[in-house]
Amino acid sequence: MPQVKGEDCVAFLQWALPRLGMRWAGFRKVRSQVCRRIVRRIGELGLSGFEAYRRYLEVEPDEWPRLDSCCRVTISRFHRDRGVFELIRDRLLPELLAVEGEGAGAAGTPLGEAVVGCWSAGCASGEEPYTLTILWRLHLRKRFPGVRLHVLATDADETLLERARRARYPPSSLRELAPEWVEAAFAPAGGELRLRRPFHQGVELLRQDIRSEMPAGPFHMILCRNLVFTYFQPDLQARLLDGILHRLLPGGYLVVGSHERLPAGDWPLERHIDGEAVFRRT
Ligand SMILES: C[S@@+](CC[C@H](N)C(=O)[O-])C[C@H]1O[C@@H](n2cnc3c(N)ncnc32)[C@H](O)[C@@H]1O
Repeated sequence: MPQVKGEDCVAFLQWALPRLGMRWAGFRKVRSQVCRRIVRRIGELGLSGFEAYRRYLEVEPDEWPRLDSCCRVTISRFHRDRGVFELIRDRLLPELLAVEGEGAGAAGTPLGEAVVGCWSAGCASGEEPYTLTILWRLHLRKRFPGVRLHVLATDADETLLERARRARYPPSSLRELAPEWVEAAFAPAGGELRLRRPFHQGVELLRQDIRSEMPAGPFHMILCRNLVFTYFQPDLQARLLDGILHRLLPGGYLVVGSHERLPAGDWPLERHIDGEAVFRRT
């Protein structure tokens, strides 16, 4: 491993991130994961440190995608920011399920089949989409027997998607879930917890880089949390928000991270009365 100083990584990120469409402010508090990966990469290349890596990037355009993949923050957990998921469970999904139950065939589904479609953009190892199937199965399915929940979960990182397929988690990633939910939805597996099979149903995992690809939709609810509006630059945020809104049905909900703000613009959205992080498509 090369000998490097923390401040070298900060200066390097401040130089490199804007060239990748990302912004330093989003990484300030969570940079250690990214810095560790870059230091490992510098070691693999046999370079002496960040300055040498910078010079290498200046003459090796093929290295940029490699650096880009080092800059993905992968932190997630089940029921993250529980207030938002309580709102989804108690207000948003019941409303969407009730409306959809009244008129089947919407959202591009086969006629007669009622489906509420959600998109989890930047789904990490499945914590967010599986939280949705857990609260749907344990709380809502019996109340809305004629409607199915479908969650399309996308992420740029194949390793994370493979983890999502395995669906085995350290107990720490379940710490915001109520113990009775953990018991109902998971089985012990060594030191980990394995999501029981029925909770996989309705979740489709897909590799996509949101900067170049988005699913066709349209969706009733889109969760785009702790990705676009944290790590990307404002002009890229605005372009992606436009794409996201084209995939959100009128009356549908956009859920962003609790600490995130939308880019400036005249968006067809109104803030949901209860939640800072929830917007309704007008
Ligand atoms: C901080 S995690 C957030 C996970 C989850 N949404 C949450 O809030 O707990 C960000 C996720 O976005 C993914 N990601 C990063 N860049 C991406 C891109 N360009 N396209 C799609 N996913 C990306 C990362 O791999 C990671 O899984």
